[in-house]
Amino acid sequence: MRKKVTVVGAGNVGASCALKIAGKELADVVLVDVVEGVPQGKGLDLAQSGPVEGYDVKITGANDYEPTANSDVIVITAGFPRKPGMSRDDLLMANYEIVRNATEQAAKFSPNAILIVVTNPLDAMCWTAFTVSKFSRNRVIGMAGVLDTARYRTFLGMELGVSVESIQALVLGGHGDTMVPLVRLTSVSGIPLTELLPKERIDAIVQRTRDGGAEIVKYLKTGSAYYAPAAAAVEMVESILKDKKKVLPCAAYLEGEYGYNGLFVGVPVKLGAQGVEKIYEVQLAPDEKAMLDKSAGAVRELISVIQQKAGI
Ligand SMILES: NC(=O)c1ccc[n+]([C@@H]2O[C@H](COP(=O)([O-])OP(=O)(O)OC[C@H]3O[C@@H](n4cnc5c(N)ncnc54)[C@H](O)[C@@H]3O)[C@@H](O)[C@H]2O)c1
Repeated sequence: MRKKVTVVGAGNVGASCALKIAGKELADVVLVDVVEGVPQGKGLDLAQSGPVEGYDVKITGANDYEPTANSDVIVITAGFPRKPGMSRDDLLMANYEIVRNATEQAAKFSPNAILIVVTNPLDAMCWTAFTVSKFSRNRVIGMAGVLDTARYRTFLGMELGVSVESIQALVLGGHGDTMVPLVRLTSVSGIPLTELLPKERIDAIVQRTRDGGAEIVKYLKTGSAYYAPAAAAVEMVESILKDKKKVLPCAAYLEGEYGYNGLFVGVPVKLGAQGVEKIYEVQLAPDEKAMLDKSAGAVRELISVIQQKAGI
């Protein structure tokens, strides 16, 4: 049986995810959106790229969840993106309603699926999907760290004039201004970054990584990044569907790991057929732990806003 992936939200990130999933022939894809005609139209358009691109999977679109039944993976991209001047947190309650509804519906039709959340503010939307779906924690995962790490590696590649493929790095924490790029563990084919660049340059690149999403929002003016976010989400989909067991930074629900309980924080995880198959606890230096504490604190604050406003 061919695998099936549902992508909720047929906007910029969702449609780009569908294109990449099809291009890699990972699964049949069902696009779901509230706007009538958009998922159907984009689904058909994507299907018609198959004969040219050389992929052969089914891509369909719908405004309801029945066609999504028994999906293996559900990628939730439904929701508002940022506009210039907005923080991810400004999207909180509007996207809470959207993610709550999407999760309820999607989980009803695919009770065994693995949920990958993309909608911002990411860590709070993961918590929403986890709470609403009641899925076990290994089956609800947030996409942020893969993207943040890709941005960090891109900027380092530009600075050093080396292939981005030679740069190993890890960005932990929440998906926001408090994310934690681990400079100490960044290397260029094993050579510590700290031996290759002075501290001021590294600090500037860390800051540009933290502002990486905002930099693109400023250029685009009407929305946020989507090519790299979709690429990052599909790397996670692929690791799950092919049981590759890649170790990737993802938002995972922590139950005591790193000293946090009951919230999603970006940490290195092993992604395989069971979803999050292992959470790695990296030994952190005191300054790194302090930054992670700040980041986790910001996530906790958003969750308490949801709890107060939504009365849950
Ligand atoms: N986690 C990350 O790193 C990351 C990166 C990029 C974007 N994002 C987030 O992803 C989300 C989508 O971004 P985008 O650029 O694709 O936005 P977009 O506006 O292009 O697409 C969003 C789509 O969601 C649809 N939608 C709204 N409510 C819905 C509902 N209840 N059910 C189904 N579909 C619904 C809209 O009609 C629209 O087509 C945003 O919240 C954005 O902030 C996250």
